[in-house]
Amino acid sequence: LFAGPVEFLKGVVAMDGLPPADRAEICFAGRSNVGKSSLINALTGRKALARASNTPGRTQEINYFTLGERHYLVDLPGYGYAEAPVAVVEKWQRLLKAYLAGRQTLRRAFVLIDTRHGVKAVDEEILRLLDGAAVTFQVVMTKADKVREADRAKVLDQVRAALARHPAAFPEIVLTSSEKGDGIATLRAIIAGIG
Ligand code: GTP
Ligand code: MG
Repeated sequence: LFAGPVEFLKGVVAMDGLPPADRAEICFAGRSNVGKSSLINALTGRKALARASNTPGRTQEINYFTLGERHYLVDLPGYGYAEAPVAVVEKWQRLLKAYLAGRQTLRRAFVLIDTRHGVKAVDEEILRLLDGAAVTFQVVMTKADKVREADRAKVLDQVRAALARHPAAFPEIVLTSSEKGDGIATLRAIIAGIG
């Protein structure tokens, strides 16, 4: 699906560090520990491309990856990590806002939601930010392997109800497990279709 190399390009800590805006860009946003880095590894088929970890707040920079010759994948720092120092949180919130609102080539934001938890108040903040910036976003449910199939419908209903209030939301929700591989091929196809 993606011709060309998959590589880590750079970690960015300020807007002036962003690479040239010359490709379609897809970002992954979500609460700390929701599984953003793991999903990027699963999508690219590379076990340790993005650093995944049990320690919340592991990803502290905007990490750019090339996916073939036409796309950048962007791993964003997680939000809603209660233990992080206030000054750090504020710095990242400013950068996140500036990035989401100001990146011309950002085609879609994937917002990751833990299948065990559904949409939380901190997620709503990001969804409102994306509405305001008119960035189309699509919800990707993570860690589906941790929820019994019979219990998934209820969470999905909660997520659908939340999305109905957001004009920038893309209606299709993708259920994934980076661990088991569910939904990964679907997500790859979606990304390949974003030009
Ligand atoms: P930050 O960088 O801190 O914001 O976290 P992150 O969103 O990048 O999460 P990360 O990918 O580092 O994953 C956090 C933890 O969840 C790790 O221990 C992963 O192994 C685990 N995890 C991620 N995806 C899955 C999944 O699909 N299934 C299961 N069972 N565990 C997962
Ligand atoms: Mg991470």
